[in-house]
Amino acid sequence: MNTSEFKFQTSDKKVENLSVTWQTPSNIALVKYWGKSEPQIPKNASISFTLNNCHTTTKIEFTKSQSMPQAEFELFFEGKKKDDFKPKIAKFFKRVQEYCPYVLDYKMTISSENSFPHSSGIASSASGMSAIAMCLMSLEKELNSNLTDEYINKKASFLARLGSGSASRSIEGPLVVWGNHPEIENSSDLLGVKFPYKIHPIFENYQDTILLVDKGEKQVSSTVGHNLMHNHPYAESRFIQANENLKKLSEILQNGDIKAFINLVESEALTLHAMMLTSNPYFILMKPNTLEIINKIWEYREENNSNICFTLDAGANVHVLYPDSEKEDINEFIKSKLADFCQKNQYICDSVGFGAKPL
Ligand code: DP6
Repeated sequence: MNTSEFKFQTSDKKVENLSVTWQTPSNIALVKYWGKSEPQIPKNASISFTLNNCHTTTKIEFTKSQSMPQAEFELFFEGKKKDDFKPKIAKFFKRVQEYCPYVLDYKMTISSENSFPHSSGIASSASGMSAIAMCLMSLEKELNSNLTDEYINKKASFLARLGSGSASRSIEGPLVVWGNHPEIENSSDLLGVKFPYKIHPIFENYQDTILLVDKGEKQVSSTVGHNLMHNHPYAESRFIQANENLKKLSEILQNGDIKAFINLVESEALTLHAMMLTSNPYFILMKPNTLEIINKIWEYREENNSNICFTLDAGANVHVLYPDSEKEDINEFIKSKLADFCQKNQYICDSVGFGAKPL
């Protein structure tokens, strides 16, 4: 696949003003993306569950203006002007203007809010960047009415990736692969594709309860984090392992081998943290309560022959994953045994979702 198919060609209509709103979800990686090269090309393929309840809602009001040398926008987050988020978004517009030159022809007012508490440690870049990408594609569709929905989703994922790698996996659901992989048809380093094979029913409506262990500011920004993989002593074997894990997980998702799923997903989470422990500079992103929770999950699994497992992001929060059929018992366990390890006893109940929605 080459990038030229994403260059804006012609417009058959003039658009003076447009207001569009999209709601796009966060996602949780099962095989992790950790390590990239310019321009936002992943070092290995990754796969994630798209979430349902953790999402960003973004409205963009476009007003036609004379063509400007760089994109002009105002940014409101939860009703307030938010200038400290502007540089990341300005960088995003700069990156996408080659593919969406119309961003220079409109003044934009961006108003955004998250469904999850601010600074909960939940990455908002995936949902945030994918929402902006969908809004741009709505304008593009107005300018060129020939665009198909398939193209719109593909280009939105391509654009979202340029804002934040994991955002490429937040356009569709329930499972999205990003990164070229021989076993996944049509997979690409440039954009996320829906997992193309039939998923075993045990993985339908999979549950993810996010335990908010530490709601503080991220200790390691994603840019710093990915850079740790340059000159990392284990980088090359990690990238090979991730691609092998994705091959295995593709089979597991089809054959329903849930024990193998648990083993692979937990190993991926711990490997991600192992990469941070063994980089230089080095980081410990887990907190004592992260480990308490992991041990409690293992105990519960053993004692109850349960299929509960965990995964982690680049932070201290724990994503507790389990099949829908075990929801009642596991929710009780979380409430009575795990909530105590969360800041202010807070956790978020989520499940697998289906991607971006226009509002
Ligand atoms: C640990 O997508 O936030 O969550 O591309 O620099 O924006 P940038 O990084 P980002 O990295 C996510 C890393 C991760 C694993 C994953 O989601 O695959």
